[in-house]
Amino acid sequence: MLLQLFSVIVFLEALIFGQTYANYYQLPIPSPKLGYVYHGGNADAPVHITMYFDSQCSDSKMGYQGVFDAADYYGPDVVYLVLHGLSLPYFRGSFISLQALRAVDQLNKTKTVEYLQILFDNQDLISGSPDTVSDADMIVILTDFAVEVGFTEEEFLEEYNHPKTNQLCRHEMKMANDRGVYGGPWFVVNGMTVLDYYPYWDVEDWISLIDPLLG
Ligand SMILES: *[C@@H]1O[C@H](CO)[C@@H](O)[C@H](O)[C@H]1NC(C)=O
Repeated sequence: MLLQLFSVIVFLEALIFGQTYANYYQLPIPSPKLGYVYHGGNADAPVHITMYFDSQCSDSKMGYQGVFDAADYYGPDVVYLVLHGLSLPYFRGSFISLQALRAVDQLNKTKTVEYLQILFDNQDLISGSPDTVSDADMIVILTDFAVEVGFTEEEFLEEYNHPKTNQLCRHEMKMANDRGVYGGPWFVVNGMTVLDYYPYWDVEDWISLIDPLLG
């Protein structure tokens, strides 16, 4: 009797909410998978590095060049570097910057790293700006950066404002949360978190981590 009552409730719920009782916490599994692949990476490379970054975080800014240099040093057939945005709520303009980066990536993947470097170089205009600078003002700045890498204002804003762009940024953030990533930059090498990491690591520090993995 109780079971039948439960079934009826579930059925009514499905009618009202227009969906079956899927797990509330289950996000759609992204497809294609998230992550910006650095400069023509080869997924068969023996060393996979995942970097979580916030483009408005000063430690991420300090840390990215070392790992980019290491990826360049070894090349895409040895190091496969994948970048994931991680929006940290205490940096102003963090989420919208990552949404802008995703819009750029969707428009042309060859511009993603260049745009990210512009974001890092200009943190003072976004996270470092005074409180009088609004999100709308920041979006104007983010649009200017997009024009700098070769897009028109119209095509950038259309992509930025597309609901899927915002959705994927949410999924990306939640995916990082799901893995217990709580700061940036954060590195995972061949599946293992690099606990020894410090943002002052340069290419030499990365080489001393990667060389022994190559046997
Ligand atoms: C993407 O940008 C590159 C230059 O970086 C250009 O050669 C290519 O045609 C662009 N692709 C598209 C789809 O616009």
